Formats: sequence, structure tokens, C-alpha cells
Amino acid sequence: MTDTAERTKSNDPCWCGSGRKYKRCHRGLEGRVLPGRVGPPRVVPAAIARPDYAETGEPARRDEPMVKSPEVIGAVRAAGRVAAEVLAVTGAAVAPGVTTDELDAIAHGAYLERGAYPSTLNYHGYPKSICTSVNEVICHGIPDDRPLAEGDIVNIDVTAYLGGVHGDCSAMFLVGEVDDESRRLVEVTRACRDLGIVAVAPGRPISDIGRAIEDHAHAAGYGVVRAFIGHGIGETFHTAPSVPHYFSPEARTVMEPGMIFTIEPMITLGSWREKMWDNGWTAVTVDGRRSAQFEHTLLVTDAGAEVLTPEVPAPGG
Ligand code: MF3
Ligand code: CO
Ligand code: CO
Repeated sequence: MTDTAERTKSNDPCWCGSGRKYKRCHRGLEGRVLPGRVGPPRVVPAAIARPDYAETGEPARRDEPMVKSPEVIGAVRAAGRVAAEVLAVTGAAVAPGVTTDELDAIAHGAYLERGAYPSTLNYHGYPKSICTSVNEVICHGIPDDRPLAEGDIVNIDVTAYLGGVHGDCSAMFLVGEVDDESRRLVEVTRACRDLGIVAVAPGRPISDIGRAIEDHAHAAGYGVVRAFIGHGIGETFHTAPSVPHYFSPEARTVMEPGMIFTIEPMITLGSWREKMWDNGWTAVTVDGRRSAQFEHTLLVTDAGAEVLTPEVPAPGG
């Protein structure tokens, strides 16, 4: 918040010179994340294998079984490891003054070094190699020229395409000194994701996952976003089953060993309702209060779950 903003009273003329009262003009927009300038898509060398949508933007419709073959399971384990490494490398660069497009550049280089294609690039036309969702951005923030500011929280979402399959994970990073309320939101959201993973068990319905997440979020006084859910993943980026992060009696699919899906709850300080930016991708909270998200890709095993995107230590730390 600038000094100007703090000094302006509701009924004063807005500092911006519009002639409108401050309360009818810029109040409430102060401190919001605004869309920045998005640079051109980054280039992937021809030697790196691409998913079917890389040129056209439209994924081919295919019927992929929810229970994967041993070959696909091994391939997602490898793609998931690469995604986790790219996430660690990119997260280590988070600092005040760094733009989200600079994070995109770092991630892009890290995918290529590992022989992977950035799954988001041209997926339904998405223009960048990661998603970067700052403060009240719920998900699908597009990296742009906005520098991260002291006190921001940012989700970095990395999906790697390697060996014909995708691995998908995300985590929150704190920019400099972050207020206690935001830090608590981030830690509760991580716990929600992890409690969702604990609920993974063969023979149990997918709805157990959302129930566990929702119970923990509500106990903390937080909201659970409903518009975006976890998803099956493998040769297709987003496939069956759907994995809601709230209790949904319709999520009747019974978990079986060999299924692979993500758990990626988005948890809010205030309202769980979203609105979309004009770019058609980015979702923000309706009330402008902060949202956090963590994501892993999971394999259902005989015993429970194997995390296919296990966290790796940040480089140099
Ligand atoms: N990685 C996101 C997920 O968790 C999907 C991003 S798709 C994009 O499902 F096109 F928005 F990048
Ligand atoms: Co996902
Ligand atoms: Co993701």
C-alpha cells in the first residue's frame, strides 16, 4: 500500500485524478494483482518429443484407461521426477523484483536440460511453460512482466512431458517477509493436500479425498475452490477420474491400484468463488483475498499412494 492510498479517505477525490470519490474508484483495487504484458511463447528444440497438441493447440481425444500399464507408470514416475526438479529450480529463483516471466524462462531452460517438453505450452493455446499464480490468483496465472513484491505468495505449477506422458506438481513460495495470515494459509493448504494423499486407498471412493481436504480447510476457517479439480493424468494431460477437493457424492469412482491422478487443492482465506480475467485463463477470488495451492501426482498402490512428484531439495539449499 502506498502512502497516497493510506492517506486517501473514502469520500475524498481519488488520487488518480478521475474526479470520482476514492471509494467509487481505486479503493479496493489497491494491492490487487493486475494482468501484465505476456511475452512470446518460448521455443522448444525439434529434438525434444512433443505432445499431440504442441502444433495445433488441441489435444487429440483418446480413451485412456484409468488403471495404467507398468510402462506408463514407470514413465509417469520419470516425468514426475523431472517436474519436481523443475519446480525446485524455479522456486529457488523466487525473490522480490523477479518477474514471473523470468521464472518462466528459468523453468523453460530446466525442462529442456532434462529432455522434457513444458506440457502447458500451447495446451488449448496456453502461451507459457508454467503457471504462476500470485496472491488472489487461484490458478492459471500466466507469467508476465509483473515483478514479485515483498510479501507476495506465489504458486508455481510445473507439468513435464517426457517419455510420452505428463507429470504435474505445484507448490507455494513466499516472497521476502510474508504476513502471518498468509503463512498460515500456505501451511494449511499444504496440509490439505497431504491429508488428501493420506485418504488415497484402494477400494475407497474418490470422494474420500475431497472430504478429508474440506474438513481440514473448514476447521481452519478457509474456503475450498470448486471450479478446478484434480484429474487423471498419463498419456493425456487431463483425463478421468475427476478429483474434487470438496466432498462430492458423485465422485463414486473406486480407487484401484495402478490409477494415476493429481490432488491439487486451492484453499482461500475468504470466498471460494472465482472470477476469470479477460485472458480466458486466469482465475482470481471474487473478494480479492488470497488463495494457495499445492499439487502432487499420485499412483494408487496396494497400500495407499505413491507420490510420483516427490519434493527434491532446492538447488544450493
Ligand atoms: N498444471 C495445471 C494443472 O494442475 C494445468 C495447467 S493447464 C494450462 O492441472 F494450460 F493452464 F497451463
Ligand atoms: Co494438475
Ligand atoms: Co499442475
